[in-house]
Amino acid sequence: MAHPHTIVVLPGSLRKESFSLKIAKALATLAPDTIKLDIVTLHEISFFNQDLEAAPPADWLKFRETLHRASGVLFVTPEYNRSIPGVLKNAIDVGSRPYGKSSFNGKPVGIVSNSPGPLGGVSAAKHLQQILPGISGPILQQPEIYLNGIGDAFDDKGELIKESLQTVLKQYIDAFAAHVEKHNK
Ligand code: FNR
Repeated sequence: MAHPHTIVVLPGSLRKESFSLKIAKALATLAPDTIKLDIVTLHEISFFNQDLEAAPPADWLKFRETLHRASGVLFVTPEYNRSIPGVLKNAIDVGSRPYGKSSFNGKPVGIVSNSPGPLGGVSAAKHLQQILPGISGPILQQPEIYLNGIGDAFDDKGELIKESLQTVLKQYIDAFAAHVEKHNK
């Protein structure tokens, strides 16, 4: 078999016990062997500042390089005030520059939103669907995935214990792997 495609997974939360991070880890476990998920947390990415573009900080260059090497990008985001968290928007802004040379360019992308509440972070996911088309490759359209009631999905050790969620995540990551194959020919 050819080498698996490396997929950068960006959890949109810095929280140690983040559900988004736990979902990212569960997806990494469930992924088929055609893709390998590389979870990249956003703690190290400094604030985007256009004044620094001529001599970008090392953390921006490292992040852009990580994206360049990937065959696809998967966003696992919570919703903050009906949108994506600022740290995730900052990372997208950093990765999208220099102008016309977005590190997300041409990469197939996927969006997984979640919330402990009833709406599953759907507004955050919809905002990503607005942000990405100008700077990335094709977004996986179906299946859509907005995970609500995420609060009881994991045990104390971060293991996924909600079977219904496992089924949905498996369906999603298999579809995403096919999306990655299709757009990396
Ligand atoms: C939230 N939360 C939230 N939830 C939601 O469904 N819609 C929303 O608009 C918001 N807004 C919001 C704003 C801010 C500033 C915080 C801190 C939280 C709740 C959020 O879903 C919850 O804290 C998640 O646990 C955050 O995701 P992680 O850190 O678990 O990945």
